[in-house]
Amino acid sequence: MHMDLFEENKLIIVNLENCEFLLQTLEKKWIEIQNGLECSYIIILNTSIENNVLLNSVQNFFNRNKFIWKINYLVNITNEKKIEIYSFLNHNLSYVNRLSSDIEKYLKNLNPSSYIKQTLNSELNSIREKKFNAPNFIKNENEKLFTSVASSSEEWNLFENKIDVNSYNFFEAVHPAYAYQVLAIYKFLIKNNISTNYFIDIGSGPGTAIQMLLELLNSYSQVDLIEPSPTAYTYLRERFKDNHFVYPFLKGFFDYYPSKTLNLAISIGASHHFNTYFLFQHANKILENGGFLLISDEFISPFKTKIERYENIIKHHLGYIIDLLKLAPQITEIPNNCTDDEIQLIRLSHDVFPKINVLALSGKISDAAILCRKLLSEMSEILENNFNITNSFLAYYRLSFLELQALVAGLDYEVECKTSVENLISMAIENDFEVVRHERLYATSKGSFYNSGTHLICFRKNLFRNN
Ligand SMILES: C[S@@+](CC[C@H](N)C(=O)[O-])C[C@H]1O[C@@H](n2cnc3c(N)ncnc32)[C@H](O)[C@@H]1O
Repeated sequence: MHMDLFEENKLIIVNLENCEFLLQTLEKKWIEIQNGLECSYIIILNTSIENNVLLNSVQNFFNRNKFIWKINYLVNITNEKKIEIYSFLNHNLSYVNRLSSDIEKYLKNLNPSSYIKQTLNSELNSIREKKFNAPNFIKNENEKLFTSVASSSEEWNLFENKIDVNSYNFFEAVHPAYAYQVLAIYKFLIKNNISTNYFIDIGSGPGTAIQMLLELLNSYSQVDLIEPSPTAYTYLRERFKDNHFVYPFLKGFFDYYPSKTLNLAISIGASHHFNTYFLFQHANKILENGGFLLISDEFISPFKTKIERYENIIKHHLGYIIDLLKLAPQITEIPNNCTDDEIQLIRLSHDVFPKINVLALSGKISDAAILCRKLLSEMSEILENNFNITNSFLAYYRLSFLELQALVAGLDYEVECKTSVENLISMAIENDFEVVRHERLYATSKGSFYNSGTHLICFRKNLFRNN
């Protein structure tokens, strides 16, 4: 018997003759989603309505009144006879306001060509204008660093074994809230008047995030970057070759000891890449009492079993991907100079990512995981040895591919070992740290403050003890 995987949330409309019926249906679906249902998947077959008319009427309906839908919808025109409309909850409605007021408040006097200002402005403009808008440095500097990068070593759990570090270096900048987490760290440092004279960055990767933080800081005299991946380390050396206050170390955090007492350690996107529990033990050894450990990272919603972990990993990564895809152009609008491989990448992204999300949100976790693996292998084939992009908007598809790599690595628990923020906090407390601030900067699922997304957690060591 043929089982329809999407049965629960799917609705097929055949021979649609006017948009009114569709809009009434969408209105009902969107209210259902705002009130608790996870998603809806509408397929329109053989409609006499022109694609553009249909697209515009959905868009006008979405924007039409003084209220704001808490919905993300995606329209995928697969061919003349079939149109798909996916609807999901929008978890980040207030993000754009926070982003815009923080840019205004903290970046006003910063050089417009700084990485952080370009990245945050590009993110803000993308959300406001509802279209992809990559920062300029993605257009201009694609090849500059790539040529000098070393090949990977043979250690099994290196970053490059599961994630394409070259792509990460360029495309991670368009990840939702990637630069915003750096700004959140900066805000915490200045509000608490914390000295940045000497500090360390644990797991710097190719260095984009720490570069953004350094652009914001008024002064620093020594910044140690700890990074065990040879490929990422090569980028770090290149990136900071003219900055004599920055010292990259090619080693894992547990082999690193500071040259003087340490009051501040930060780590961005790295705590889930190695033994998180040991991270706190080692941080405890090398920080002075009252010293700060700031961890910004992606966390999944709490889980107990493997299948719950799979579910939460898939929903988490798809949360970011769907937020990006809602800004995507229709396949009919993409520039002529895109290569066949690029068009294929775009098609696959529009066709498959939303389906994976519907499956995961409908509780069909094994099917969603199978589809993730299949998509990864298809996309990997397309992207094999294909580093450059013809148009900057393709950065968003390359980022989605990186997310998929991280997702599948997370299913296999290789290199990617994400936990929940609740669990992170209990690990920290057991190791004599206390939470002084916790912010969920960007949400990838609904529910509480402790559910999945990008979080910043600021810890202090042994606050009430004397050195
Ligand atoms: C996702 S990247 C984050 C890079 C960078 N902080 C950023 O935000 O772009 C995670 C990094 O953690 C590094 N890492 C893995 N194990 C580590 C360890 N034991 N000590 C320090 N860093 C480690 C990886 O090599 C990788 O570069």
